[in-house]
Amino acid sequence: MVNASTPAGSESSRPAPSTPQQRLDTLPSMQQRTGSNARGGHDSGGLPKGEGSASDASQLPARKALVQDLNFFYGSFQALKNINLPVYDKRITALIGPSGCGKSTLLRCFNRMHDLYRDSRYEGRILLSPEGVNLIGPEMDPIAARLRVGMVFQKPNPFPKSIFENVAYGPRLRGMSKKSDLEAEVEKALRGAALWEETKDRLQSNAMKLSGGQQQRVCIARALATTPEVVLFDEPTSALDPIATQRIEELMRELCERMTIVVVTHNMHQASRVSHFTAFMYLGELVEFNPTSKVFQNPDKKLTEDYITGRFG
Ligand SMILES: Nc1ncnc2c1ncn2[C@@H]1O[C@H](COP(=O)(O)OP(=O)(O)O)[C@@H](O)[C@H]1O
Ligand SMILES: [Mg+2]
Repeated sequence: MVNASTPAGSESSRPAPSTPQQRLDTLPSMQQRTGSNARGGHDSGGLPKGEGSASDASQLPARKALVQDLNFFYGSFQALKNINLPVYDKRITALIGPSGCGKSTLLRCFNRMHDLYRDSRYEGRILLSPEGVNLIGPEMDPIAARLRVGMVFQKPNPFPKSIFENVAYGPRLRGMSKKSDLEAEVEKALRGAALWEETKDRLQSNAMKLSGGQQQRVCIARALATTPEVVLFDEPTSALDPIATQRIEELMRELCERMTIVVVTHNMHQASRVSHFTAFMYLGELVEFNPTSKVFQNPDKKLTEDYITGRFG
């Protein structure tokens, strides 16, 4: 954790709309929307030392991943500074913070996307449960990391191929070739992405012809088809209309019953609606990690409060 000092520019004329509590009163939390706290994460009541502020760790879910002392460099530029962060199993963790603070950079470390570019360098560990393999260690094959940790990008990016081939891509990569096996996998993934009913009669049509929201669900199905344990979403709804956004948010909540989700969003209403835990980042550092309700209603750090009340960002 870093010290929460007032950021440069936070004394600007931009008015703070309200206190965090007042502001959050206008945000429907997942708990309010579902009428329960059945998954136990949203107000899970506490984090062990180093993982937030509350005291009762007994209600915490199992950890799916643990980021330890992570530094990341683009050439000589250090984009992530000493990040320590737990990612809880079958929960949604939101990464929030102003543009350029390192949210996407952190997300891309989990599935080794940076390996696709030269001059990037990781330091530290991202340990993946259950066996504790280090995702960014030299011994970890990046392709294997991407099969276990899937990713959905900001702009829907289906391949210019049929819906079927988009979703069959991962299973084929894993070596599946029998038509009936592929068909079963594709159906399962499309059902998981809440897209089966809309597409089952036109699996051979080009995915690029679908609406933006449907394209994003094809991309989710493509990610699901590798049966990942963790799915990363980088601002998955920022190019979508409100109805498509709502469908993706509902889908994320369904998926987190089976898998672990990390979502980058600059929409704090979205973070508040969908996530169980929230990590607030600033200038490459993790400022605060806590249950989402705590971050938005009673954050530990003044910098977090200044951000969520709109004083900067
Ligand atoms: N490919 C890159 N090469 C060099 N610097 C980069 C690259 N991608 C991002 N950065 C820098 O790293 C920092 C974090 O960027 P990013 O993770 O994209 O932030 P966010 O997702 O929070 O908006 C920014 O200063 C950005 O300019
Ligand atoms: Mg980003």
